[in-house]
Amino acid sequence: MRRILVAANWKMNGDLESLTALAQGFKQQIDRSKVDVAVFAPFVYLPMLQQQFAGSGIAFGGQNAHTQPKGAFTGEISLSMLKEFGSTHVLVGHSERRTLFAEDDALVAEKTALAIEAGVVPVVCIGETLEERESGVTEQVVAKQIQAVIDRIGASALAKTVIAYEPVWAIGTGKTASADQAQAVHAFIRSMVAKLDADVASALTILYGGSVKAASAAELFGQPDIDGGLVGGASLDLQEFVGICSAV
Ligand code: PGA
Repeated sequence: MRRILVAANWKMNGDLESLTALAQGFKQQIDRSKVDVAVFAPFVYLPMLQQQFAGSGIAFGGQNAHTQPKGAFTGEISLSMLKEFGSTHVLVGHSERRTLFAEDDALVAEKTALAIEAGVVPVVCIGETLEERESGVTEQVVAKQIQAVIDRIGASALAKTVIAYEPVWAIGTGKTASADQAQAVHAFIRSMVAKLDADVASALTILYGGSVKAASAAELFGQPDIDGGLVGGASLDLQEFVGICSAV
């Protein structure tokens, strides 16, 4: 039985005071008996999360990491630096990284492989644009994105990852994919993996992301192949995020 995971992606938002208050609220108000929680914070707030979440069972991590362990890469951060401040998870290939920072499938696959090697769980983000959905190529796009990862790490290593399906047109737009639309893509992803490794496919956590709110979470998480959410905007609002977690 897969446990539901609800992940917060704070992106480049908040400040020390507001994010500390959010972290405290998550710790105090989320009933973790039914849900796993992970928080992806801007790098500089990881020490704060390490302190706030100590002993709470709430996981956290960075929103990106570089492929090299160290060196002359001004402005970048390594997996070992993230680990030093308690990160157990890392976001890989978020659509904003792919679009705004030119991360392609090969780089996303490389980052996924290196995170696994470092013992950090990569949450690998995939998803189609509106144009791709409207031209009917959603499955091909998602398949290509996953295949690049599988080619690099092999299907069995997917057991050490979490996949986040995030239709680009639903991110930050207020347009959630309908539960049926999301379920169809999640089932497609799981069946694609099942052709290579049935055990890995049935244990694989596949999150949905894109304008998830407390009001839409129960229906989404009730779908057979949706194992939780990757939540952006609503993760900056304590009551919304607690509401999403209690929809489980
Ligand atoms: P959103 O962001 O919930 O604000 O749509 C989701 C994400 O980008 O992970």
